[in-house]
Amino acid sequence: MFAIERHPVSDSVRAQALVNNEQYQQLYQRSINDPDGFWREQAASLDWFAPWHTLTESNFQEGQAAWFIGGKLNVTHNCIDRHLATRADQVAIIWEGDDPHESAHITYRQLHDKVCRLANALKARGVEKGHRVCIYMPMVPEAAYAMLACARIGAIHSVVFGGFSPDALRDRILDADCTCVITADEGLRGAKRIPLKNNVDQALKDCPNVHTTLVVQRTEGDIAWHAERDIWYHDAVRAMPSNCPAEPMDSEDPLFILYTSGSTGTPKGVLHTTGGYLLGASLTFKYVFDYKDGEIYWCTADVGWITGHSYIVYGPLANGATTLMFEGVPNYPDTSRFWQVIDKHQVNIFYTAPTAIRALMRDGEAPVKKTSRASLRLLGSVGEPINPEAWEWYYHVVGDTRCPIVDTWWQTETGAIMISPLPGATDLKPGSATRPFFGVQPVLLDEQGQEIDGAGSGVLAIKASWPSQIRSVYGDHQRLIDTYFSAYPGYYFTGDGARRDEDGYYWITGRVDDVLNVSGHRIGTAEVESALVLHDAVAEAAVVGYPHDVKGQGIYAYVTPMAGIEPSAALEDELRQLVSKEIGSFAKPDLLQWAPALPKTRSGKIMRRILRKIACNELDNLGDTSTLADEGVVNSLIDARHNR
Ligand code: WTA
Repeated sequence: MFAIERHPVSDSVRAQALVNNEQYQQLYQRSINDPDGFWREQAASLDWFAPWHTLTESNFQEGQAAWFIGGKLNVTHNCIDRHLATRADQVAIIWEGDDPHESAHITYRQLHDKVCRLANALKARGVEKGHRVCIYMPMVPEAAYAMLACARIGAIHSVVFGGFSPDALRDRILDADCTCVITADEGLRGAKRIPLKNNVDQALKDCPNVHTTLVVQRTEGDIAWHAERDIWYHDAVRAMPSNCPAEPMDSEDPLFILYTSGSTGTPKGVLHTTGGYLLGASLTFKYVFDYKDGEIYWCTADVGWITGHSYIVYGPLANGATTLMFEGVPNYPDTSRFWQVIDKHQVNIFYTAPTAIRALMRDGEAPVKKTSRASLRLLGSVGEPINPEAWEWYYHVVGDTRCPIVDTWWQTETGAIMISPLPGATDLKPGSATRPFFGVQPVLLDEQGQEIDGAGSGVLAIKASWPSQIRSVYGDHQRLIDTYFSAYPGYYFTGDGARRDEDGYYWITGRVDDVLNVSGHRIGTAEVESALVLHDAVAEAAVVGYPHDVKGQGIYAYVTPMAGIEPSAALEDELRQLVSKEIGSFAKPDLLQWAPALPKTRSGKIMRRILRKIACNELDNLGDTSTLADEGVVNSLIDARHNR
């Protein structure tokens, strides 16, 4: 077992930090005991067009949450306009291209101009407040402009990660009834071209309500053109006025929808609103990254995920920060790329996912050590549990034993970081997300739904509403209640398990539901299963996760062929392609086992617990098998298992 060493806050870090431990304790207590006072002070960090009158009205039974009620504001006024008086010429976005010779710097003044022009172009195409706009983009600055342009006029954006297939894109466009899509001709990642516009064309065959596609010219690759619908982005913005008033939005007006996977059914459109979300993203950015004016901050996520929304775009820009957007991948042109980018742009704060760290660790220290990284001050981790080995490597090799690591736990649904160290306040323990952020009340629940006191393990739930909480599942509010507020009445159920130690630190152990976390991508086992059974040769499929050295979790699929079908490598390949087509290639099974039958209870329920154990190669303790209809099935699956 890897010994876990405590890393106390160093004197030099504490001396420069926004808050020390005592201040954290005081602020935290105040946020719980006097929420009105605490949030009134914090909300004053945003510019409001009209003040709010009621802090919050929330009701977990009905899945209702509202914050800063009556307030009016605009997200882009807060992220752009209000900075112009003091930092118009400061760089807002540094863009680093896939090709190391390509980069760009966009100042706040330029950002204002770009966002206003695009907002006017959207209006000219009939996009209005409340309309839904789909953004399917590579990591180029236009992706951020697109999000902000929607927010400027009150349109609701739905960003779909560029790795999703045309079918997955279509389903998301239809679910939100988007009328406009913003995309690019192609994306570029590791010198490979991603056919985004072609994917959009395919998706839109079934989306009659989309009247406009704005196309950013990124590669000048060959694409099809539909004149009645397609417009080049650069043509659309060219003649537009460079000023567009920021629409006054109600605190509770929707800002965006972002689809995420759950344990059942199709992905859910997580709905976030304006005031609470922006304050959550802004405040956590300020405290967790302890951001100082003038610093360069880099989050390696994609804008297609919540991390990109809150910590590439909204959180940093609300703070007037300089945020770096990276188009490429960690191993192109070589595995030094991250560290070269840090040196090139003198990055001070670096926020990435454990999966990237584990992948880079495999190449050893040399690619890291040939770079300086002297600009780094703080490191961050997000998206999955970070194993202590990866943590120590990140700390010692990447950070030269100088930079604290903030291991931030949160979710698409929470909108902002919920549990995390604060650099000047929290002694670190590798693998622990440590303590709750202001206003967040985590609890551990036992199997009966009772709160566990002191040290212990259980299901992680949240006891009271917080400003950036999910407001609804788009178009299906009942699903919100069923998914998050029914299993443990009176609590928000996170889907994660956790342990709390004697210092009150939280250790997230991973999902307790049927959601996988593969390289930081959330994937529902049900989604992969639905894709597999679409194939004529497949009778039944069950998908589970297993520990994977680099990805965190790998995807293990058990597939029962139709009677008379002979399993083959070619068929296996077809099934992987099918998952790729239905969802995206990141969801392809890593291991696929042909299963003449699946273990079931006498009432016909698949015993996933047993399948999980076989996939994880944990055969000593298969648990209770007495309810199995046919015990022989399990033995035959064990004999043919892949992950020995
Ligand atoms: C997992 C990503 C352990 C967790 C921001 C959660 C983590 C899911 C951490 C949400 C962390 C995220 N330690 N696990 N620091 N951060 N997770 O919605 O299982 O893409 O429920 O949001 O990622 O994934 P999502």
